[in-house]
Amino acid sequence: MSKRALIIYGTHEGQTRKICVSVAERLQQKGVAATLVDAADADPATPLPPFDASIVAASLHAGGFQHSVLRLVYRNAAAIAAKPNVFLSVSLSAAGEDEEDWRGLRKCLDDFFTQAEWRPQRIEHVAGAFRYTQYDYFKRMIMKRIAKERGAPVDTSRDWELTDWDKLAAFADCFADQVLSS
Ligand SMILES: Cc1cc2nc3c(=O)[nH]c(=O)nc-3n(C[C@H](O)[C@H](O)[C@H](O)COP(=O)(O)O)c2cc1C
Repeated sequence: MSKRALIIYGTHEGQTRKICVSVAERLQQKGVAATLVDAADADPATPLPPFDASIVAASLHAGGFQHSVLRLVYRNAAAIAAKPNVFLSVSLSAAGEDEEDWRGLRKCLDDFFTQAEWRPQRIEHVAGAFRYTQYDYFKRMIMKRIAKERGAPVDTSRDWELTDWDKLAAFADCFADQVLSS
């Protein structure tokens, strides 16, 4: 029987879903069966499907990761910790080198893991996206200002992905190897 990876994710504008779908496809190519669980649709009281390894993915918004992911991980922390596991952190901070941004990101991660009562074996940082076309007027203005401060794209007529898909594929291949040899 092939090994099974569970990918639990949270998303606001869809970038983390897209990232997780891409990881799932890569795992499948390497012979690892992947099941995606959108934490927003999952009842934390319902047992998770059986798995041999897991990826927990969430995106950073205003200093916090999705509560739906937190709730699901908290309820299943022991099962997740018992098998190979990784936290996939999606943010804009990960796209840059700003020390203050990274300090903030590390603090948010620490808060999340403390509340979830789970520490992943590994954290994979993934740069997210500016999804200007999906923001309302005020969010678009805020995100444009943040982009300007960071030297990121400010053309709000379209979306901008900062995700490094090659790096993500390399991560997925490495995780698949770990799962297959576990
Ligand atoms: C309202 C808002 C707040 C955000 N806050 C942060 C933040 O505090 N730190 C950060 O690094 N990225 C922040 N981001 C960037 C998101 O993490 C990034 O856009 C990511 O791609 C969102 O993924 P999602 O579409 O899966 O939710 C924010 C984005 C939005 C729209």
